[in-house]
Amino acid sequence: MILVTGGAGFIGSHTCVELLDAGYEVAIIDNLCNSQRDSIDKIKQITGKDVKFYEEDLVNKEAVEKIFEENKIDAVIHFAGLKAVGESVQIPLRYYHNNILSTLVLCETMAKYGCKKLVFSSSATVYGNPHTVPIKEDFPRSTTNPYGSTKLMIEDILTDLHVSDNEWSIVLLRYFNPIGAHASGLIGENPNGIPNNLVPYIAQVAIGKLDHLNVFGDDYPTKDGTGVRDYIHVVDLSKGHVKALEKANSCTGVNTYNLGTGTGYSVLEILHAYEKACGKTLKYEIAPRRAGDIPECYADTEKSFTELGWKAELDIAQMCADSWRFTQNNL
Ligand code: NAD
Ligand code: WQD
Repeated sequence: MILVTGGAGFIGSHTCVELLDAGYEVAIIDNLCNSQRDSIDKIKQITGKDVKFYEEDLVNKEAVEKIFEENKIDAVIHFAGLKAVGESVQIPLRYYHNNILSTLVLCETMAKYGCKKLVFSSSATVYGNPHTVPIKEDFPRSTTNPYGSTKLMIEDILTDLHVSDNEWSIVLLRYFNPIGAHASGLIGENPNGIPNNLVPYIAQVAIGKLDHLNVFGDDYPTKDGTGVRDYIHVVDLSKGHVKALEKANSCTGVNTYNLGTGTGYSVLEILHAYEKACGKTLKYEIAPRRAGDIPECYADTEKSFTELGWKAELDIAQMCADSWRFTQNNL
């Protein structure tokens, strides 16, 4: 059985679908601090399979031990964490407490029960402002906010863990910009309050909840002056986790992979792709740059392709179409 921490969330729920479709048994631990219980029912509805759900906090050692007591956990995919960059600057202690302590409790419990295969959700944020693009896995790491620092620290903690005990098999996955939703329209991304991220924001403009998009800066040294990112369909990303799990099952060590498409799109390109998907013209205004943003960020995908046998397949049109379907069904 695979334990998925944060499995009720955006990427976790899609990954549970892919795991169940691939024939794995799945247990989820999630405290629902940033997700809803009905995503568990929707995972079951999409796959026609059952999952075990524990509504628990991963920092609660007794609760986590109970899960390992009740199930034979073969490997863990660890998504649980707080992820809002701006909020992490406002309440850093909460971010360090939640993200770091939950990982420590998880790893201590895994070690106690002899489960030493772990796939971890890291982020392209650990590359800071890269000196060049595309970004390779061996580029230097740095961060500019507490959220990013938790990712960097956890990468180091897991690496130290492997140094101390080489039976551990750890895969660090650095996601670029996950967007889109499941083709069923049942699961997707629905953040609380005003979205921080580009595509959830555009989705709310398209559905009429927000008036216009603020484009943060049009004077970057990029193709049209707006920020360039590597947007990846959440279903492609989830399939990458099944491949990472196979990797963790086949060898020990710490292996790090970028999960991106290798192609960068500007803010305006995404806006126009979304207009095509929803069939409407969407209002936007040029606003000042957002503090901490970098001009351009996209992945070198060579290593994940050669070593995991994985590459992204869904294009921007599909990402926007699936986001729009989910938005219409759920907002
Ligand atoms: P999400 O917020 O939708 O999912 C995270 C889940 O973890 C939520 O369901 C939340 O309730 C749960 N959770 C948080 N703290 C917990 C705790 N202490 N105990 C139990 N459950 C807890 O976020 P997501 O977009 O699905 O991201 C998943 C992971 O991927 C996160 O670690 C995030 O940092 C990382 N990541 C996300 C992105 C992105 O843009 N979405 C990019 C790079 C990395
Ligand atoms: C994308 C582009 C903005 C909103 C963040 C985290 C990163 C990772 C993914 C977790 C940028 C522009 C945005 C808006 C805009 N998460 N934008 N108007 O900043 O690349 O990455 O999410 O690990 O750590 O930092 O994603 O979607 O916020 O922004 O113009 O209202 O859209 O300036 O160029 P980002 P994003």
